[in-house]
Amino acid sequence: TGYITYDPGFVNTGSCSSAITYIDGDAGILRYRGYPIEQLAERSSFLEVSYLLIYGNLPTQAQLDDFTQKINRHTLLHEDLKRFFDGFPRDAHPMPVLSSAVSALSTFYQDSLNPFDEPNVELSTVRLLAKVPTLAAYAYKKSIGQPFLYPDNSLGLVENFLRMTFGLPAEPYEVDPEVAKALDLLFILHADHEQNCSTSTVRLVGSSEANLFASISAGIMALFGPLHGGANSAVLEMLNGIKAEGGDVANFVNRVKNKEKGVRLMGFGHRVYKNYDPRAKIIKRTADQILGKLAPNDELLDIAKRLEETALSDDYFIERKLYPNVDFYTGLIYRALGFPTQFFTVLFALGRLPGWIAHWREMINDPQTKIGRPRQIYIGEKEREYTAISER
Ligand code: CMC
Repeated sequence: TGYITYDPGFVNTGSCSSAITYIDGDAGILRYRGYPIEQLAERSSFLEVSYLLIYGNLPTQAQLDDFTQKINRHTLLHEDLKRFFDGFPRDAHPMPVLSSAVSALSTFYQDSLNPFDEPNVELSTVRLLAKVPTLAAYAYKKSIGQPFLYPDNSLGLVENFLRMTFGLPAEPYEVDPEVAKALDLLFILHADHEQNCSTSTVRLVGSSEANLFASISAGIMALFGPLHGGANSAVLEMLNGIKAEGGDVANFVNRVKNKEKGVRLMGFGHRVYKNYDPRAKIIKRTADQILGKLAPNDELLDIAKRLEETALSDDYFIERKLYPNVDFYTGLIYRALGFPTQFFTVLFALGRLPGWIAHWREMINDPQTKIGRPRQIYIGEKEREYTAISER
């Protein structure tokens, strides 16, 4: 006792053991439950990957069918929960709306409050996977003043989400299979990333034995920040800013290098990757394909590529091992698919959801788990004598 390891930002602190995701940041390797991200991206689906992360193995066809059917049965929201959206201002950012709505699930499903009741944890897992896409679509509909659509459970998870987001009650909505495939791939690439800020938050909140909905609601708010999931929106704002100033990439990079206040190369750098982020490699290729089809000659894609090239040949970025991360090219794809900038981080949350659930469940079942309670180095005043208010 009395000896405290000082590690601000937990750069060198292992807070748990985990069998979910492996990262080798120097080599640029990412594996979910042992499977390389490249293989999952190429061959799997988001629901399969969700199953893999949560239950530890790829599902058999029968397991996948059962999992899919369970999720489809829970996509509806309680009608009273829908009224919740009326309380927010029209221009509310969809991330706090989503977090609040997920938090509110605790009030509708009070059976979920005991984190050690396995059937209820199972049910909360399915409810979250099924309802968060519906909540996300409604957060969007609210922001543009359009009516909410009921889910159509004959559709797949991503297709259903796209229809609820972009469809209208009075018109048939045809899901473009290429759009659905691109979004499914992006969800796979976001599905887990070990002890990042939001996942650590989910574990920390859950370590007090708070329920799954409460823990994930907190994780969504951790993801909101621009140094974490909010970076995907921030990248697009940065690219738009460079475009507005005539596309002068070199000038922007100089401002970053001069450490001008508030100017960072968003979508670059990572706590763990000191090499090209393997997710960013796949996403860059996808951006080329999708934008080639939906938005050829996109000026922002051109700016992004020139920005990457300029940064990767500059000593500042080489010395610090700063490479594009998962957020650098995603915003351009989301934009081409029709999503507004404010909504990008919600898409990250949809992808990260199975990872958060898997970590919460691993944490609650780990006999090593203790309530998260870091220490501090006190640097305040020594003991002082109280003075009466008239004498201060
Ligand atoms: N632009 C310019 N300089 C940077 C950047 C950047 N994007 N990232 C790091 N640096 C510099 C930083 O100024 C520092 O330089 P110096 O040694 O001269 O002080 C050095 O590189 C080390 O950076 P750090 O801030 O100590 O690194 P960190 O591990 O604490 O931060 C990070 C990691 C991701 C927060 C940071 O790289 C960053 O702010 N990037 C931009 C935001 C971003 O893209 N976030 C998404 C991360 S990936 C997905 C996710 O988590 O959501």
